[in-house]
Amino acid sequence: MAISEAGGARPRPWRAYLVLCAVAFAALIAVALSGQAALPVAAAGAAVIAALAVYLALPRRAGAAEDASSEPVREGANLSAQARDIFEHVDDPLLILDAAGRVIFANRASKSVIGGEAEGKRISGVLRTPEVLEAVERIIAGGEAENIAFTVLVPLRRHYEAYIARTSGPLIVIRVRDLTAMRRAEELRADFVANASHELRTPLAAVTGFIDTLRGHAKDDAQARERFLEIMSIEAGRMRRLIEDLLSLTRIELNEHNPPAGEVDVVAIVHDVAAALESLAEPYGSRVVMAPHEPLRVTGERDELCQVFQNLIHNAIKYGRSGGEVRVRFGRAAPSKREGAGQVFVTVADNGEGIPREAIPRLTERFYRVDVKRSRERGGTGLGLAIVKHILNRHEGRLQIESTPGEGSTFTVFLPAAPTAAPSESHS
Ligand SMILES: Nc1ncnc2c1ncn2[C@@H]1O[C@H](COP(=O)(O)OP(=O)(O)OP(=O)(O)O)[C@@H](O)[C@H]1O
Ligand SMILES: [Mg+2]
Repeated sequence: MAISEAGGARPRPWRAYLVLCAVAFAALIAVALSGQAALPVAAAGAAVIAALAVYLALPRRAGAAEDASSEPVREGANLSAQARDIFEHVDDPLLILDAAGRVIFANRASKSVIGGEAEGKRISGVLRTPEVLEAVERIIAGGEAENIAFTVLVPLRRHYEAYIARTSGPLIVIRVRDLTAMRRAEELRADFVANASHELRTPLAAVTGFIDTLRGHAKDDAQARERFLEIMSIEAGRMRRLIEDLLSLTRIELNEHNPPAGEVDVVAIVHDVAAALESLAEPYGSRVVMAPHEPLRVTGERDELCQVFQNLIHNAIKYGRSGGEVRVRFGRAAPSKREGAGQVFVTVADNGEGIPREAIPRLTERFYRVDVKRSRERGGTGLGLAIVKHILNRHEGRLQIESTPGEGSTFTVFLPAAPTAAPSESHS
């Protein structure tokens, strides 16, 4: 790969200085011929102009141009066309500087870090990160290659790592890696562990507390013992559910890229789920009302689809209006070319208090709950909709959430129809 060196000092405008000297010399002659008295004044003026011309003509020191150089200077940019072309195809931001710290090449990807036009400008004029600029100075002064981590706050907080090194020629290469996604994943993992331990710690603390009470002052109180054992059983149940949900989530995630192969009737699945949840609807005085529909075959796995509708119908019961109705409706969405056999939809609607608009995009995050206290009181772990999302991803389906605060919420599941299924009705 050919990389030619960047040019040194800028060529001086010699012609302008020669003209300036000639004008000064002509003025001196003219004044000398016109009268002896003015000679000393004219000589002094000519000397000043000539001195100025000589000063301007002198080559400047390399560093003297310091940050005048946010002005582009194109003459130094002379990487070969082939090298430029290759570097443009590198996905990571890449900058090449000359020995004086001026950018002679910045690939397309670097725009995300340094913004607009950088070539010909000093690195200090385009990158405002002191850590990186200091490292560049150390390397210009002969230092070893360095990795520098830095964060850019505007327009959005992003984390980067820059590798800065001197090439075998006197050029300096800066390669930047965007670590934002990796950092985000680390944060999510840490949050997840913190959330999971917190969710387990609360019931565990309750159980441990009651064990101490039963060993201590409630030792001989049969009535208190019964009450405490009941609470301990509820708390232990919560821990068991949480662990089951966590395991289920991990299993589904691991399997997410392996789509199901079986065919099932989603109408029959939802009927079975609703029947099993009847006893849970009773304490709320709610009813699950199913719109009649012919069988709808989808490509999917029965147990996982049961989990999806169990959570959606149970949520509608828990967070819907007491004494209200949970309405379930089925249908087919018109197929697009890409979807082949089209899609089947199931909507679960309640007439509860609804969900605030800003919370809707976060509902499928693990442990996210609009009202944590209320969810806990109703035995929720906040993992239900995260599980629904991963199951639907695996099924190449999707979840649509609509809600009007004060009126209720509608959760619609779309699933790919089995290839043998024929369309007959559209989703409005
Ligand atoms: N039909 C609904 N109406 C109002 N809010 C809802 C509804 N469904 C879900 N939510 C809100 O979304 C949150 C997340 O639901 P999700 O099913 O993930 O958790 P959960 O029901 O609290 O617990 P889990 O499903 O693990 O038992 C709930 O805590 C609740 O705040
Ligand atoms: Mg739930």
